[in-house]
Amino acid sequence: MTDRLTIRRPDDWHLHFRDGAVMREVVPYTARQFARAIVMPNLTPPVTTTQLAAAYRDRIVAAVPEGVRFTPLMTCYLTDNTDPDDLARGAGEGVFTAAKMYPANATTNSAAGVTNVENLYPVLARMEAEGIVLCIHGEVTDHSIDVFDREKEFIERHLRGIVAVFPKLRVVFEHITTSDAVDFVMASGPQVAATITPQHLHINRNAMLVGGIQPHNYCLPVAKRETHRLALRKAATSGSPKFFLGTDSAPHLRKDKESACGCAGIFGAPYALESYVTVFDEEGALDRFEGFASLHGPAFYGLPVNEDEVTLERAEVAVPPVLHVMGEEIVPWHGGQSLGWNFLG
Ligand code: NCD
Ligand code: ZN
Repeated sequence: MTDRLTIRRPDDWHLHFRDGAVMREVVPYTARQFARAIVMPNLTPPVTTTQLAAAYRDRIVAAVPEGVRFTPLMTCYLTDNTDPDDLARGAGEGVFTAAKMYPANATTNSAAGVTNVENLYPVLARMEAEGIVLCIHGEVTDHSIDVFDREKEFIERHLRGIVAVFPKLRVVFEHITTSDAVDFVMASGPQVAATITPQHLHINRNAMLVGGIQPHNYCLPVAKRETHRLALRKAATSGSPKFFLGTDSAPHLRKDKESACGCAGIFGAPYALESYVTVFDEEGALDRFEGFASLHGPAFYGLPVNEDEVTLERAEVAVPPVLHVMGEEIVPWHGGQSLGWNFLG
């Protein structure tokens, strides 16, 4: 039995840091484990220009603890009014690593998102030409579509079209939650990949709805039925370079989750690697963890892998039921549970 696992230092290919005091308190959790992270731009107001992204990047860098090496990789929030010249300039200057498409009102802080995906085609054409990666929140917002079907419907209504019209555009289908998404990614060319969160590997929708409503298991896209969770576990541990780590760590204060209208988002950063490696261990796939966590993402983005290494050991870790941000309580993913792997650094 493997009791210690040493791998290249991983990166987190999708997370939310927020801004201001919250950001300053959550960045160290990610910087403890990861060398880089793709930072989502859904602030209020959103990060829509090179100038806003450069300033946000500086604020994040200032929040990295002394002596820790961590690089935020910035994304441009695409809107109906995105200026392709500014996006291309930002990518050329190394400010933007990717651009993020939210269908308007699909999730937290997405009101400024794209109202009609096809309206964005001129921008996507420019991104394809410039080699800029497109990150997609893949859910339709049509009220007539059941919330559990919104990802599958997005594939049929929009994603197939985008991939067909822009065959060279690199697309990350983010935080996938269904076997339909796994099948779509597997059937697509090497320019299409997906991130998978720890929560979608650990829980199905029962964890959100059985025994009383469980707001700390609520995020978007929502967890689906068990068959989908099993498909995601198979994909993540398959060794396919199309799947890589993206926590979708999305901090919301406890009071904002435990509310009559609770926020969507799970704060996965503090014990992210411990959470993922547990899944790989359960699946008998520890030998494939490095690929998922540390190699497939850089290969897709065309970035070097990290030079240094991290070690995890088989040992019980108790995840605190609550952490504190700005003197307020925040519940981490797995809060109050124990995990069988410990991160040694
Ligand atoms: C994210 C957030 O809170 O910003 N929430 C979530 O449930 N995942 C937004 C997102 O990635 O959808
Ligand atoms: Zn997200």
